[in-house]
Amino acid sequence: MTKNITIIGTGYIGLVTGVCLAELGNNVTCVDISEEKIKKLKNGESPIFEPGLPELIAKNKSRLKFTTSYAEGLEGADLIYIAVHTPSKPSGEADLKYVFAAAKEIGENLKIDAIIVNKSTVPVGTGHKVEKVIQKETDKKVSVISCPEFLREGKAIYDFFHPYRIVIGADTGHEKAVATLKDLYKDVVNSHAEYIITDLRSAEMIKYASNSILATQISFINELSHLCEKVGVDVTEVARGMKLDERIGKDAFLNAGLGFGGSCFPKDVRALIALGKQQNARLNLLEQTEKINERQIEKSFSKIKKILKEANVNFKDAKIVMLGLSFKPNTDDTRESQTFKLIDILLKNGAKEIHIIDPIVSIDEEIHREKFLPKRIRGNKKELDKLHGFTDGNIQEQIVKAATNADLIILATEWGDFTSLDFASLGALMRNKCFVDLRNIYTKNALEKHGFTLKNMGRK
Ligand code: UDX
Repeated sequence: MTKNITIIGTGYIGLVTGVCLAELGNNVTCVDISEEKIKKLKNGESPIFEPGLPELIAKNKSRLKFTTSYAEGLEGADLIYIAVHTPSKPSGEADLKYVFAAAKEIGENLKIDAIIVNKSTVPVGTGHKVEKVIQKETDKKVSVISCPEFLREGKAIYDFFHPYRIVIGADTGHEKAVATLKDLYKDVVNSHAEYIITDLRSAEMIKYASNSILATQISFINELSHLCEKVGVDVTEVARGMKLDERIGKDAFLNAGLGFGGSCFPKDVRALIALGKQQNARLNLLEQTEKINERQIEKSFSKIKKILKEANVNFKDAKIVMLGLSFKPNTDDTRESQTFKLIDILLKNGAKEIHIIDPIVSIDEEIHREKFLPKRIRGNKKELDKLHGFTDGNIQEQIVKAATNADLIILATEWGDFTSLDFASLGALMRNKCFVDLRNIYTKNALEKHGFTLKNMGRK
């Protein structure tokens, strides 16, 4: 049955959730405080890069509305989603100021009883605080439900329609609200998905725990990859063998490489560690997950130094090409991307020139935007002038231009454009044929037959 839904926040989660709920036949109003974002959306443009999203926005434009006004946005809403971001505080705790600001605005503008669905990733106990903030502003009855999101950037639309589970957390007394939310997702809960109906706090913890175990899988395989190198084992073969065990799973996050970045894993791991410290229940394993991830930058840098040394190339004279800037393929998101940390350590150690290619993200725009750059190099013209982007030509032409007279190519993000490189023609262009594969895409013999030397993350 068609519902009127309001989504507060048009970021990666809010916008995708709103557009997909419209695709399910609901009337959706997206509210955001950013005039710029709302203006773009009203013009039918998507403020974020997410494969398939522009088409879905266009297809559902009769059911979609965009506004900066809460009063307008909340009118007649059956369900109100809070999908604003929860960045990290310096302490690592989640900063909830945007969540509470949204809750206050909802309370001030609510005209009818409503169901509040908390989509944002929030520490355990936040739902109860949101309820208090709203009820302080209104005598309308609200039911606050936690329905954490598990969308992956770059696959968000697919994930919305193919969830592993729909988690719905609410305390007793809100059964009607739970039933309404279940009804909303009934078309999405297909054969293999199921509802997990639980209490509010458990639902909030499920989200953090899920992201944290995925991050821990990555750090586990990354740490193992260093041992694999020492004992002549290919870590990708180990991962292949592990994934066949259903208790580990074919989709387990066991690809060794540069490590995890993005707007979720780093933030959520930090927040859960902080909660553990606050509650005197330290999560030692998770603290190691974070440390191992940080160490991947040093480990990657030592491979880069080593391969150039072995080629008798002075690191400080090398022309370096870096393929990939976004934190993973098929996204324009660079938040906490490991690639930025790699750039920082290269520059800190005297790199002379780094030519950066990415199908979507431009280093020049990142330098201009500044806010996601490593703090050490923000506004540091001397350092930033060593970073070179590309504005013209297609991706292959950019690769040819960058590879000309280059000494080293680093594969940092495994975009499709970078996973079947023509090493014969690349090798003919380069001054030295060094390749550091930080996402374990290539095998040694695929490169050595073209005269390349290769270093990777635990492959033979
Ligand atoms: C993640 C969760 O997967 C998703 O369920 C949640 O809703 C949001 O956070 P996302 O951050 O979009 O999604 O990216 P994801 O695909 O999970 O990758 C996260 C990071 O881990 C990326 O930097 C990726 O490169 C890295 N990664 C992933 C690995 O290094 N190895 C792997 O095997 C998988």
